[in-house]
Amino acid sequence: MLRFLTAGESHGKGLVAIMDNFPAGVKMDEDFINEKLRLRQSGYGRGARQKIETDKIEFLSGIRGGFTTGSPVSLFIKNKDYENWRERMDAFKPVPEESKIHAPRPGHADFAGSIKFGLDDIRNVLERSSARETASRVAVGAVCQIFLRNFGIEFASAVLSIGGISEEKAEEKKEEKGTDLFCASQKKRYVPFSDASPFPADLFNETIRRNIDDSELRMPYPEAYSEEKIKKLIDETKAEGDTVGGLITAQAKGVPVGLGSFTQWDEKLDAHIAMSVMSIQAIKSVEIGAGVKSAFLKGSEYHDSIYYQEKGTDFKSAPFSASFYRKTDNAGGIEGGMSNGEIISVTCAMKPIPTLMKPYLDTVDLKTGEARKAFLERSDVCAVPAASIVVESALAFSICYFFLKKFGGDSLSEIGRNYEGYVRK
Ligand SMILES: Cc1cc2nc3c(=O)[nH]c(=O)nc-3n(C[C@H](O)[C@H](O)[C@H](O)COP(=O)(O)O)c2cc1C
Repeated sequence: MLRFLTAGESHGKGLVAIMDNFPAGVKMDEDFINEKLRLRQSGYGRGARQKIETDKIEFLSGIRGGFTTGSPVSLFIKNKDYENWRERMDAFKPVPEESKIHAPRPGHADFAGSIKFGLDDIRNVLERSSARETASRVAVGAVCQIFLRNFGIEFASAVLSIGGISEEKAEEKKEEKGTDLFCASQKKRYVPFSDASPFPADLFNETIRRNIDDSELRMPYPEAYSEEKIKKLIDETKAEGDTVGGLITAQAKGVPVGLGSFTQWDEKLDAHIAMSVMSIQAIKSVEIGAGVKSAFLKGSEYHDSIYYQEKGTDFKSAPFSASFYRKTDNAGGIEGGMSNGEIISVTCAMKPIPTLMKPYLDTVDLKTGEARKAFLERSDVCAVPAASIVVESALAFSICYFFLKKFGGDSLSEIGRNYEGYVRK
């Protein structure tokens, strides 16, 4: 069973992730991992911290000669900012009383974390609960993607809206431009959450993919979306010392039929994805496919009818399941807890960043009971574009987990044989 653990503090020496039961023989691609780390650091509205860090992956174990060995893969990302925190984060030096934090910030782990662990300095909670940890999750997700690429499985992610502003002009542009920039089978796309977020993009289209990676908002239509409007909103919010959240989508393409299972509650692919995504800092809702919108549709409108069309001239050479297809994908590629061969899609809401640059929020000194204003710590105004990379990584881990469960073996070649035996039946 594939699993991973992470360790490390926001201002400690660095972040560590250990991936256990990762197969041997997978060619590692440092550039791919570093690109994902770079994207997690970017985006309009990030704070000063990202200017200090340039995250780079370092393998501590499990890779030799460019290939995984089957031993635990341990990944390390250095915190450059540690140099500025060396004294305060020292493992043995006593923590001066005056530097301790006693007033929990609403919306953070501060309050429950310090009571739960009996800590008299909230820094001991915030250092670990910080979203800096997501850098290690992105590294793990990137390693999973590298493995899954061997089986034609790809991932993509994008931002749907920020601070309530979505790609309002996307629908309009679709009419004007025909299908050029848009998915050939428009019907495949659903409208997540509400009609306020039209999202007809085929995230796997090369042009759109480039648009997303080049955009500071990670939105797919540079000429269609309200980039200026959203950037203005972020600038104004920053000036007010406030923050914003948004909506994110991530998708997986090429996932074979049958990952996950209907036989036990904790074997369900949608449940696993929901946990992976919900565990990301600041994510407050997770939808699969049409999600919330399904509650407003009739069965005849929501469910994705099944069709059959033989692929290619030699039926035997194409994956068995590739001949079955849907014209819609409201189920987000998952039925009965299993992948059904369509694009797997997850949409989630990120709350506004909880650290505010002005003293809006009330709190209480946990030592004295006195009323306080929440303290101000260097922070992002908007991290929705960055979070989209984390969501994509979380999805990649869940897919990889069930892929290895289904086709499991100790090496890439063994897994390849199992996979071929299944899909060519
Ligand atoms: C990529 C990313 C960056 C974040 N940056 C910040 C930040 O700069 N300041 C902050 O207060 N919260 C930030 N957060 C959110 C907090 O880490 C999170 O809200 C907090 O740990 C409490 O966890 P919860 O929201 O899941 O309950 C960020 C989250 C993500 C995913």
